[in-house]
Amino acid sequence: MSLLERYRDLLPITDTTPLISLAEGNTPLISAPRLAREIGVRELWLKFEGMNPTGSFKDRGMVMAIAKALEEGARSVVCASTGNTSASAAAYAARAGLEAVVIVPAGKIALGKLAQALMYGAKLVAVDGNFDAALDIVRKMGDNYPITVVNSVNHYRIEGQTTAAYEIVDTLGDAPDALCLPVGNAGNITAYWLGFRRYHERGKTTHLPKMLGFQAEGASPIVQGAPFEKPHTLATAINIGNPASWRFAVGARDESKGCIDCVSDDEIVVAWRDLARCEGVFCEPASAAGIAGLRKLMQQGAAEPDARYVAVLTGHGLKDPAMAVEQFAAPTPIAPTMAAIERALGW
Ligand code: F0G
Repeated sequence: MSLLERYRDLLPITDTTPLISLAEGNTPLISAPRLAREIGVRELWLKFEGMNPTGSFKDRGMVMAIAKALEEGARSVVCASTGNTSASAAAYAARAGLEAVVIVPAGKIALGKLAQALMYGAKLVAVDGNFDAALDIVRKMGDNYPITVVNSVNHYRIEGQTTAAYEIVDTLGDAPDALCLPVGNAGNITAYWLGFRRYHERGKTTHLPKMLGFQAEGASPIVQGAPFEKPHTLATAINIGNPASWRFAVGARDESKGCIDCVSDDEIVVAWRDLARCEGVFCEPASAAGIAGLRKLMQQGAAEPDARYVAVLTGHGLKDPAMAVEQFAAPTPIAPTMAAIERALGW
């Protein structure tokens, strides 16, 4: 059953909403015992959103937003993106026979994401500016042209993304004690909180989880309490200086008695590597911010060790292979002889 069919009663679906699908959602919740032990928490699960059809959690929101755009008779959609939203918008627009326009910050999106937008046939525009500048233009385009904005300022995106919270509860049988996730434009933390609250109101959970959101230090406006003019982080997906859902993220943090903190690029890289090496799960750099943040809170004595944590791994590692090779050095070629191999391996 498709994601829209499965959670139909919880989503803004009517009799005329086309139930499109690329088999999004239903992503694995993977236990992470080694990483849990190493970080010092009792129980840790990884919600691996990289297993969605375009390799990120955006597909949950995009399937809903594109379905509603179709229902409302739209012909084209537009988004600004650090890469994943554009990949997802391009794919679902292609699937639905709509035109997709995607505006990205030039030179600041990972190669895999660029390839996706090109392959799915979007009209790709690169601007000399950051994500925030691109989103400003997209909002103006939405005001001035007959085109549907599919950034998370479109509330159908948030609605679709609530399904990840439902899946976590459906798998675990209850809400976790806390949810750790990266924060960029702040749509996802907003969606999870809405989803957990909605499920709680329906009696599906005994409690509500704490929301623990993490920005990259160089792009941490919510933590600092002021927009960043020139955000900078190697986690390009969350390189955002003025999040659209800022207010809702603060609401999720405060209502859940959670936190929004920041982690350095070095802390992100360590967590990113540990996820791959300890658990065999390869996500993109930004996705590791939740694990980096949980480790930081534990080191500060600010997180409960005897609790059940879920960390959301928002995108797949193959989105950004160049960063992995850059950080961890691809080997230089040697002669194809046993002697050379033995030397290279130190045997
Ligand atoms: N992780 C990844 C891999 C992302 O691509 C994003 C956002 C986030 C985390 C943060 O989620 O914005 O809901 O707080 N990517 C957007 C994009 C901005 O354009 O693809 P958020």
